Amino acid sequence: MTEQLSVVVLAAGKGTRMKNGLAKVLHPLAARPLIAHVLGVAGELGAGRLVVVLGPNMEEVRSEVERCAPDARFAIQDPPLGTGHALQAALDELPARGTVLVLYGDTPLITAPTLSALVERRRESGAAVSVLGMAPPDPGGYGRLRFEGEELAELVEERHADEHLKRAALCNSGVMAFDAARLRELLEALPLRRDKNEYYLTDAVALARQRGWSCRAAEGPWQEGLGINSQGQLAAAEAIFQQRRRHALLEAGVVMRAPETVHLAADTVIEPGAFIEPYVVFGPGVRVEAGAVVHSFSHLEEASLAAGANVGPFARLRPGSRLEEGAKVGNFVELKNATLEAGAKVNHLSYVGDASVGRRANVGAGTITCNYDGFGKHRTDIGEGAFIGSNSALVAPVRVGRGAIVGAGSTIVHNVPDDAVAIARTAQAIKEGRAPRMREQLKRRKEQQS
Ligand code: UD1
Ligand code: CA
Repeated sequence: MTEQLSVVVLAAGKGTRMKNGLAKVLHPLAARPLIAHVLGVAGELGAGRLVVVLGPNMEEVRSEVERCAPDARFAIQDPPLGTGHALQAALDELPARGTVLVLYGDTPLITAPTLSALVERRRESGAAVSVLGMAPPDPGGYGRLRFEGEELAELVEERHADEHLKRAALCNSGVMAFDAARLRELLEALPLRRDKNEYYLTDAVALARQRGWSCRAAEGPWQEGLGINSQGQLAAAEAIFQQRRRHALLEAGVVMRAPETVHLAADTVIEPGAFIEPYVVFGPGVRVEAGAVVHSFSHLEEASLAAGANVGPFARLRPGSRLEEGAKVGNFVELKNATLEAGAKVNHLSYVGDASVGRRANVGAGTITCNYDGFGKHRTDIGEGAFIGSNSALVAPVRVGRGAIVGAGSTIVHNVPDDAVAIARTAQAIKEGRAPRMREQLKRRKEQQS
């Protein structure tokens, strides 16, 4: 983009229609806050300036913005009196040249190419304003675009729209591009809408027309303009996002037999050639390399799987799980902050936390690393090629040496040296021929009781 571009993200609204205490723009879409999606797209545009408008007491939103866009400037709208008032609050942070692109913090599915087209539409036509229109299947709640020929005449909020406009007109996505040089005059002229005690940014279009300035619209895909005001709309946006990402992964060569059942996070990385079975949930921070397999009903968060790693079915990988090449985690196994080195196996019914499992070590069914003593977390270190018998408890901090063997059912509280065998269970007693007598006794006792 040759011309100077500034982006303003409006995020001061309280989001009362979400019906919970969380600021609307912090609600997660694919495990990433709405505002982070919008800032991500803003970043792609290469804008010279980014301004985020917040309401009072929105410290959490502020830190999220600082995290994803360290160069962002802030404007505080106190108290928030509508979208027009929000942009007024940002004016002092904006240059008086170039284009000012306004994004809403509650419109997370917008993409950079659509925004670039809108900015270009304004620039090439010399319009004071260009607006992104859309035709969603359910237009309820959106403002409408009213045209006079090619000119966009005004934006009409749904409450004020007549039946014809409601039915036939394009909807306002909320995304608008302004000529920076004419923006201040428009914002200063916005009327107070007394019924709502708000200044509507949408009124800027009619004001521009009154001045004889041109206004234009560009139509974009309705999915991108979806605004989130309620939990239902958030779920609808999630569905669209998921579909988009699955499609992109399939195109890239990831193998999914039932992609519609795989739930991704915004930052999920799956390399081409990885195989994802039906019904897998990816939380944030997961990386799956080519050739790894994730079987059905597994749940992964902040985990990495190297080539040839194999997970599930029914596995839970919690934050800090790392599977090196060919490592295997089987059914009903939970891993947390644990590394399985190349070829290591934890195949059944185990909890491995705060641990490292050496190359080709085998952790038997039902093994538990007892990492928590009620006060602190402690580490378990299992050496290369070690064998842990089934139903063992490894009480951390503890180390099982390279090539060591732990007998099934052991409770290991002391370190096991390399190549040693450790058995920590009571010795088995055998009483020859005793079973018939024991049965007799039990039978008699039962008869006496009844
Ligand atoms: C707005 C538009 C509507 C459009 C729709 C698209 C107006 C008057 N209406 O309605 O035409 O179809 O978006 O989704 O603009 N905000 C502030 N300060 C405020 C009020 C809002 O920063 O005082 C922010 C909110 O945080 C939100 C965005 O502006 O990110 C939109 O506000 P919202 O109240 O959701 O507007 P809608 O009623 O959806
Ligand atoms: Ca909205």
